[in-house]
Amino acid sequence: MSEKTYDVPAEWSSRAYVDEAKYREIYAASVKDPVAFWGEHGKRIHWFAPYTKVKNTSYDPHNVSIKWYEDGLTNVAYNCVDRHLATRGDQVAIIWEGDNPAEDKKITYRELYEEVCRFANVLKSRGVKKGDRVTLYLPMIPEAAYAMLACARIGAIHSVVFGGFSPDSLAGRIEDAGSTVIVTADEGLRGGRKVPLKLNTDAACDRAGGVESVIVVRRTGANVPMRSGRDVYYDEIAKNMPAECAVAEMNAEDPLFILYTSGSTGKPKGVLHTTGGYLVYAAMTHQYVFDYHDGDIYWCTADVGWVTGHSYIVYGPLANGATTLMFEGVPNYPTISRFWEVIDKHKVNIFYTAPTAIRSLMQAGEAPVTKTSRASLRLLGSVGEPINPEAWEWYHRVVGDHRCPIVDTWWQTETGGILITPLPGAIKLKPGSATLPFFGVVPEVVDANGQVLDGVCEGNLVLSDSWPGQMRTVYGDHERFVQTYFSTYAGKYFTGDGCRRDADGFYWITGRVDDVINVSGHRMGTAEVESALVAHPKVSEAAVVGYPHDIKGQGIYAYVTLMSDIEPSEELRKELVNWVRKEIGPIAQPDLIQFAPSLPKTRSGKIMRRILRKIAEDEFGNLGDTSTLADPGVVEDLIGNRQNRR
Ligand code: PRX
Repeated sequence: MSEKTYDVPAEWSSRAYVDEAKYREIYAASVKDPVAFWGEHGKRIHWFAPYTKVKNTSYDPHNVSIKWYEDGLTNVAYNCVDRHLATRGDQVAIIWEGDNPAEDKKITYRELYEEVCRFANVLKSRGVKKGDRVTLYLPMIPEAAYAMLACARIGAIHSVVFGGFSPDSLAGRIEDAGSTVIVTADEGLRGGRKVPLKLNTDAACDRAGGVESVIVVRRTGANVPMRSGRDVYYDEIAKNMPAECAVAEMNAEDPLFILYTSGSTGKPKGVLHTTGGYLVYAAMTHQYVFDYHDGDIYWCTADVGWVTGHSYIVYGPLANGATTLMFEGVPNYPTISRFWEVIDKHKVNIFYTAPTAIRSLMQAGEAPVTKTSRASLRLLGSVGEPINPEAWEWYHRVVGDHRCPIVDTWWQTETGGILITPLPGAIKLKPGSATLPFFGVVPEVVDANGQVLDGVCEGNLVLSDSWPGQMRTVYGDHERFVQTYFSTYAGKYFTGDGCRRDADGFYWITGRVDDVINVSGHRMGTAEVESALVAHPKVSEAAVVGYPHDIKGQGIYAYVTLMSDIEPSEELRKELVNWVRKEIGPIAQPDLIQFAPSLPKTRSGKIMRRILRKIAEDEFGNLGDTSTLADPGVVEDLIGNRQNRR
């Protein structure tokens, strides 16, 4: 824990929306009377019919129900696009920066309107109706934003699947959502390499069944197989479509999107977000956390396949009439200076990225950063995993020239928007701390028994009341929603994160306390990797844990027991790594595989993961109680054969 603090720079307390006194005053009011607070702030979006009820939420495990603005009518696309036409039709809405630095594009709000309408008409022509689930498997091209907004416009529910996921992972998500229409591209382009999105989609459709229509956006122009009757090129139908399309009036609680995320058990779950509360929350946090003012150029480097891309590339910024930059590429292509070159090229003022990117760029030293100007930068942001103080300091000193505050934003797919974060003009910074809750957010730290802890403490992070951006259910499985989030500590939303609170009341997120690991800011269930491994014919058993990794934050360590007639080998190790890549996607590939003749189990046969975690972390001097092990000899073998982390 770093003891260093950085006070709010003087120019920030005068330019920002709120200073510290104001933050404390607004925060106190927001938690004292959430109905009055959110009733007022709900007005930041346009409603076709105003709400009369603001909040109707229950965390009672027998009746978990979350509704905000429940009788209001609105439309997300209307708010993100149409509403701005009168005042900012010619303002740039999206700056698109291609993988290749020679390719870029600026899309005004008027152009965005036309593109979204056209896309909506294409979806309608393929039979998409209100309430239908449309799976989007797209690279970071403007069409990804058009497609999301087009779904919102006609009341369809999008499910964006990250382009790095395998055909199997895509198939599972298509099936769970019951999508009959998929939007994809011929190929994606990242770091100069092609990603076979259409071929993956074909393989996924073969597995999932039920897909009636595949709409293919041309990105690289590759010659991909097109199945007649099912597949169409987007541009071929779009050219005949009008650039006008009526918006569907949606109830505030109508679903907006499903986004699959990993949990500690089972298959990824479909996190469901709805319309009104989500948009109010995404827009409000975007404005205050990034202190967004008209004319600012804002860049979030996430992929739209993750929640950060949903809330802070597309919905939050566009609802605020912002200029949002969308980047197709990767931080180190064609040069290690790419991020900073893009910042100079487009005069980016606000830059939001993940600690893993900072750590990997740090390795190349300061020169690739300092040779660029970055004079336009005013604010930096961090998201997705704990940021270690060394990376924070480097980001602050080298990237931000000591000048730019860093907002370390803690939140989750489930929360829809940022919950714990500094506000840049209000809160002093401590490297590694997400600091204080956003308006209306009530964090608590509890011990293992659910006892709420006071003052300086360490335990698990829960939220004791709802906020408008909260997920509403697990798609198709409300019971799983209740079980996962509301049963551990009855009456509270359990985040799955550990947390410390210091003497200033600042929160320090220490990482997941469940079987979820965070690899390069990507959330991965250890159970998912295990089930991919045991699906291999040579594997009898597998246990997967995380271990500290200098760049990725956490790496994936897999203990694998082979079938009795199979000998371990380097080839098999490689084969298993590739197998997991193919089954789930490259983000899930194990960093280290240890072949283990057997795994440590209790007498009742339960794998003792705590021990496996300690061994993977090289902390085997401190294994804790091993007296319940069925065969204590197993541990010595595991320690003796552990894989070297370097
Ligand atoms: O463990 C926390 C970590 O990422 C988890 C949520 O992952 P996901 O749903 O994929 O959303 C990522 C983008 C919001 C959390 O449970 N996490 C996220 N942000 C931070 C963080 N851990 C520490 N500090 C953060 N700023």
